[in-house]
Amino acid sequence: MDSGHRPVLYQEVLQALQPRSGGRYIDGTVGAGGHASGILEASDPDGLLLGLDVDPVALTLAKNSLARFGLRATLAQASYVTMRQQINNLDWADVDGIILDLGVSSMQLDTEQRGFSFQTDAPLDMRFDPGGSLTAADLVNRLDENGLADMIYRYGEDNNARRIAHAIVKDRPVETTRQLAEIIQRTVKQSRRHQYSQRSVKDNREPGASPTRSRSKPVHPATRTFQALRIAVNKELDAVEAVLPEAISILASGGRLAVISFHSLEDRIVKQFFRQESRDCICPPHQPVCTCGHKASITEIVRRPIRPSQVEIDHNPRSRSARLRVAEKINN
Ligand SMILES: C[S@@+](CC[C@H](N)C(=O)[O-])C[C@H]1O[C@@H](n2cnc3c(N)ncnc32)[C@H](O)[C@@H]1O
Repeated sequence: MDSGHRPVLYQEVLQALQPRSGGRYIDGTVGAGGHASGILEASDPDGLLLGLDVDPVALTLAKNSLARFGLRATLAQASYVTMRQQINNLDWADVDGIILDLGVSSMQLDTEQRGFSFQTDAPLDMRFDPGGSLTAADLVNRLDENGLADMIYRYGEDNNARRIAHAIVKDRPVETTRQLAEIIQRTVKQSRRHQYSQRSVKDNREPGASPTRSRSKPVHPATRTFQALRIAVNKELDAVEAVLPEAISILASGGRLAVISFHSLEDRIVKQFFRQESRDCICPPHQPVCTCGHKASITEIVRRPIRPSQVEIDHNPRSRSARLRVAEKINN
């Protein structure tokens, strides 16, 4: 790699995909081209890679970092959901490996005006594809209170969703990341004070003094709402659900799919899909005779997700929630 930036679980992804000379690979979330560079290096001298991203800024970075591989790398601004169409365009019948490194990149998080982060003040945008029609501000200002609460609960798994939605609706219009983060912080603080006063009447405990209290650094109360908005703006879970069967269908026999997810909602979709597709029968367990006719199309290479080492987490704290799952296409 020449950029100095190591993508998450870099070695683990290469070990999973085992790129080889003559192989064809897809990086469906090419970003700055970190994993893609590794795949092209490992498949030297003639492995080919198709890199996709919906973000044109990411593609410019990838173009620069992959320039040294010349025609071995092809890039396209497209969603990974369209990968079958994209390989048709290249006249590829199938591929030997696919990597999906889901979610937001460091570049996107650190670019203030993209509005992904509450650490800086910027318009509420959060689109991976700047040409996309829906921004986070649209959702925050147009959804009704119930719709907002459902979104925050479903995609952010935040137990304060109803309170947060109520406070947002009261303070609308909400245009910037800081404005939104402050509303949430105020709301959650008030609710914590309320919970404390309720509990101290009952048992006089310190707030958070329960034995289950986490010792890790507390997360900012806006984290979950920001996650929910990003997922909703980019329809991330729909995309993950759509791409998994597509990816398996274009893998050659023995080809591998590696998926890195960063939160439990994504990881659950990948885990359930891999479990189901690695079984010959998916009839309900109480059914005595199989009627589904389902045949396994993959084997799971690792039963439990691969996590970053402590060394990687120390070096890149953003990697701490990454989980890698790997499946191999089997010949039916
Ligand atoms: C975590 S980054 C990938 C980083 C990359 N592995 C690297 O080595 O630099 C995720 C990338 O996926 C892109 N992305 C998100 N949803 C996408 C989709 N549906 N199709 C294609 N790219 C997508 C984002 O724009 C972002 O650039």
